[in-house]
Amino acid sequence: MQKTTKKIIKLYVIGVGPGDPELLTLKAKKILKRVPLIFSPTGGKDNLALSIIKKAVNLNKKKVVSLLFPMKKTKETDLEAHWKILSDEIIKYLNLFGKGAFITLGDPAFYSTFFYLYSFLKNFAEIEIVPGVSSLSAVASVIPTNLSIANEKIIILPANYADNLEKYGKDFDTLILMKPHKNWQKILKLAENLKNYQSFYVKKATMLEEKIYTNLKEVPEEELDYFSIVIFKKREN
Ligand SMILES: C[S@@+](CC[C@H](N)C(=O)[O-])C[C@H]1O[C@@H](n2cnc3c(N)ncnc32)[C@H](O)[C@@H]1O
Repeated sequence: MQKTTKKIIKLYVIGVGPGDPELLTLKAKKILKRVPLIFSPTGGKDNLALSIIKKAVNLNKKKVVSLLFPMKKTKETDLEAHWKILSDEIIKYLNLFGKGAFITLGDPAFYSTFFYLYSFLKNFAEIEIVPGVSSLSAVASVIPTNLSIANEKIIILPANYADNLEKYGKDFDTLILMKPHKNWQKILKLAENLKNYQSFYVKKATMLEEKIYTNLKEVPEEELDYFSIVIFKKREN
């Protein structure tokens, strides 16, 4: 009887770190060198993850497929349809090349858009997640500060939850706000009630354009950027 073997297609999901190509892991670099196919997410204009790996790996002989992830608000049903279209595109190319790598900024498990596609892909391809240095670790390192020690508690929030900062200030030693740029005035106002916290604003940690502020009031408007994080850290008594 003739044996039928099912073709296994493999997708590596690679965290490429926060910006500095030297923060790519050895494992990420090894896989990126080997795979013939790269999936590169983009919000339309730039392609940050791709620009990071270009500094560490020669992509000349590789097929790079750009995948558009909408940044603007779109209806939930339209988004679901879009994730399915992107997933079908990935499966189409994986069937041609056998294996490929989806690159994502920072760490794949930390606010990465890849996971919108995961449920569509997991039954069709073997998926291996390769962790990367997250933007939060990078931000803490460039300040430098620790995020927590001993029994301290941390809370991480997208900045549209900033309204509750004061409440969280009662319960947590470190408050992290992702994507703070769009809620800046609100954050500044609420920060006034967090007097026993030191505040930090870091833009583009570990990239050439990196900026670090140790007082939110000193951040000029032109430095407000999508690639930024705010940290409030309880002062030592
Ligand atoms: C969609 S999330 C992706 C996070 C990413 N997966 C990670 O592990 O860092 C994008 C948000 O991460 C933060 N971010 C990403 N890279 C950053 C950097 N180099 N410096 C400061 N914040 C960064 C910003 O808050 C940005 O709005």
